Amino acid sequence: MALAQQRSKEQSIAWYRDHVSSGKAAFFARYDMEFIPGRREGVYLWDLHSGRRLINCHCNGGVFNLGHRNPAIIDALRQALDDWDIGNHHLISHQRAALARRLAELAPGDLPYSVFASGGGEAIDLALKLARAHTGRPRIVSARGGYHGHTGLALAAGDAAYRAPFGPMPPGFVQVPFGDIPALATQIDHDTAAVILETVPATLGMPIAPPDYFAELRALCDRHGALLILDEVQSGLGRTGAVWAIEHWRAPGQGGTVVEPDILVTGKGLSGGVYPIAATCYRPELNHFLHDNPFIHISTFGGAEVGCSVALAVLELTADRAFLKRVRELAGRLASGLEQLRDRYPETLVEVRQLGLMMGLVFPNETCGPLMTKLIYEEGVLAIYANNDQRVLQFLPPLIMSDLEAEETLAALDRALATLSMLHGWRILH
Ligand SMILES: Cc1ncc(COP(=O)(O)O)c(C=O)c1O
Repeated sequence: MALAQQRSKEQSIAWYRDHVSSGKAAFFARYDMEFIPGRREGVYLWDLHSGRRLINCHCNGGVFNLGHRNPAIIDALRQALDDWDIGNHHLISHQRAALARRLAELAPGDLPYSVFASGGGEAIDLALKLARAHTGRPRIVSARGGYHGHTGLALAAGDAAYRAPFGPMPPGFVQVPFGDIPALATQIDHDTAAVILETVPATLGMPIAPPDYFAELRALCDRHGALLILDEVQSGLGRTGAVWAIEHWRAPGQGGTVVEPDILVTGKGLSGGVYPIAATCYRPELNHFLHDNPFIHISTFGGAEVGCSVALAVLELTADRAFLKRVRELAGRLASGLEQLRDRYPETLVEVRQLGLMMGLVFPNETCGPLMTKLIYEEGVLAIYANNDQRVLQFLPPLIMSDLEAEETLAALDRALATLSMLHGWRILH
């Protein structure tokens, strides 16, 4: 860190521009948002050179659920480094086994097996491969405007805007509007391998599905022999006040049991913000394929053993009842603060979408999301608009945020909304 600080900001930016991404360097210069993360701790990030401080309500979509450099997570990584390294991805691994076992204990349903990946896209790809191999069917149904990563099959299941420049995609992918059961019913047939959905689609601006949506979807899948894949890369691991977001959707008339997916994908927060790891967790019925073909899917870094130790520590903190209760408490506190802001700026903050600490603030038009990103940045908060619905600002505070920090965040939001409202009142935002 000291060495980096000796370099000027201009030097860091020039190196980044010349060797990493000239496009991103130009983008951040254009909006005067050349923040370079340096020191980081809890909910805060400090600029490497200026020391300017931001509250991180972007959290890389959940990577920093437990805050930056959470001491328990750093400890787990340090201890793991005393004994382990990445391990060998072909051999039997105690750490991978221990993590898969813990995931199985916490899973929403009977998902005893996990395949590990180094990122969410890779884990989604495996989910889709497994669905096709198990069913022998080609068709994959996903949500229009959903996001599952930028790797091969994940990209094919995602938004058209990210696919268009890259030529022909694998065939068999169709998309329907999120939250629309009749639309799903027209697309699920005897050729359908799986329906894949984010439980709460973040890049689509956090729409919250109706209470019966996932139960009806589960029934549709069962009727046609299709699998249900839930992408909980962002929504899982405590973000919504439950370990998994799907726990909020229960099947009617079955004692209110949780809707169970056939495959669940987790990532981001599983890393504790310090060691990349993701997982594809799946039902026993699907295991025959990987049992017969154990080397057909390989990831050198997937389930790196030091990463497994970190992920186990993440699960220990996340599954704690008191921790989840506190997440719900904080969500309630932010909900009432946001309600007051809605009363104060009814024409600008037109809707608040919220499930626990997974929040989307909806503004009147698509200029407003990007503009709010900038306005709130100027007020000391990092939060980024939803790319596939730019009316929405994604609002994802770290789950460990204190009441005081929540007040500080709401005050910053208040100031940013005052400016947005003024601009909106002048009718210059369309
Ligand atoms: C819901 C969801 N699924 C999958 C991914 C892909 O994860 P990764 O970037 O680790 O490949 C993301 C990343 O933003 C995501 O938000």
